[in-house]
Amino acid sequence: MGVCLPQYGEPDLGRRFLLYIVLCMIIYEYSYATLTIQGPAGDGYLFGPGCPGSAAALAIKLTLTAVNKGDDMSDPHSLIGKKALVTGGKRRIGRGIALALAEAGADVGINDLQADADGETTQALIRQMGRETDFYAADISDVNQVEEMFQAFLMRFGRIDILVNNPYAGTGQSFLELTEKNWDLNLDVGLKGFFLCSQQAARAMVEQGDGGSIVSTSSVHGMRAWKTDAAYGAAKAGVIRLTKSMAVDLAEHGIRCNAILPGYMDTDHLFNTTPPKIGILGEQHRQKVPLCRPGTPEDIGRAATFLCSPAAGCITGVALPVDGGLLATSG
Ligand SMILES: NC(=O)c1ccc[n+]([C@@H]2O[C@H](COP(=O)([O-])OP(=O)(O)OC[C@H]3O[C@@H](n4cnc5c(N)ncnc54)[C@H](O)[C@@H]3O)[C@@H](O)[C@H]2O)c1
Repeated sequence: MGVCLPQYGEPDLGRRFLLYIVLCMIIYEYSYATLTIQGPAGDGYLFGPGCPGSAAALAIKLTLTAVNKGDDMSDPHSLIGKKALVTGGKRRIGRGIALALAEAGADVGINDLQADADGETTQALIRQMGRETDFYAADISDVNQVEEMFQAFLMRFGRIDILVNNPYAGTGQSFLELTEKNWDLNLDVGLKGFFLCSQQAARAMVEQGDGGSIVSTSSVHGMRAWKTDAAYGAAKAGVIRLTKSMAVDLAEHGIRCNAILPGYMDTDHLFNTTPPKIGILGEQHRQKVPLCRPGTPEDIGRAATFLCSPAAGCITGVALPVDGGLLATSG
């Protein structure tokens, strides 16, 4: 947008300059606009296609690129007012993510295959934090169910700011025994489902016009191989690579996409209770997990919350291990 400053000496310079400042503030606050200021202008108009500038003009170029609209940098870790959906969110790591997002201020929708006591517990804990929640029973590997889920979520919450992709399915099998069925289940839920949900969320975020954040739970298995993990590892490596492509494609819309890589976990650890002590795993784990402590659902939840927050506003396309140093070792 070109903006021409009025010429000095014009009778209503003060009024026009005030108008110009107000307009700058509005543009900065409500858009990602690139603002170009030129002056003094030959014709004296504040705006408009007729601003020719003058040969001797002083040209000032300011590029003001707003961070995500609505990001409150007075508390860069706050998610107050954000609307989040956590898939596979009813228990264990998914619950830890949902509770950490709620604790930071987000209203959190929970998806899982079926509503049950686990889902009710997670929702009750979110409500105790004073946040809104709802439950969406859907199989994330089924495109029709995914579309219906996002329609229902958007109807209920009005918008989506955060998506966390979390489920996995399938079992470990040695490569020679690995069945097509098990391969398909691992990849359909653990990779295709992440794609389907991310696409729905990203389309809504693009329409909203003010960015968003997508976090996907991968694993240290996405970076390093263990026995019997061919299908699981392929899905988890795919999540890391998908995340990078999404980050590149969606950056122009202010949508940040990152992956988290949990390592050795204590998935029964309760939210907001004392974290496991460093060294608790004992000597036999020290070579593999330098901190010698398992990760907890809360650890994963807090990492996800950080990645979704304004504090991580320049972070996209990363695969963040939350693994006590496991991937830092030589294996
Ligand atoms: N548990 C670990 O030690 C560990 C380690 C590294 C990474 N991870 C990753 O963390 C994530 C969560 O792990 P977890 O141990 O808490 O798993 P979990 O099995 O306890 O939870 C996954 C949830 O996803 C749901 N789910 C399965 N298929 C689904 C589908 N098609 N649609 C919707 N929901 C579905 C399940 O019902 C379950 O509630 C997974 O992506 C897993 O690969 C876990």
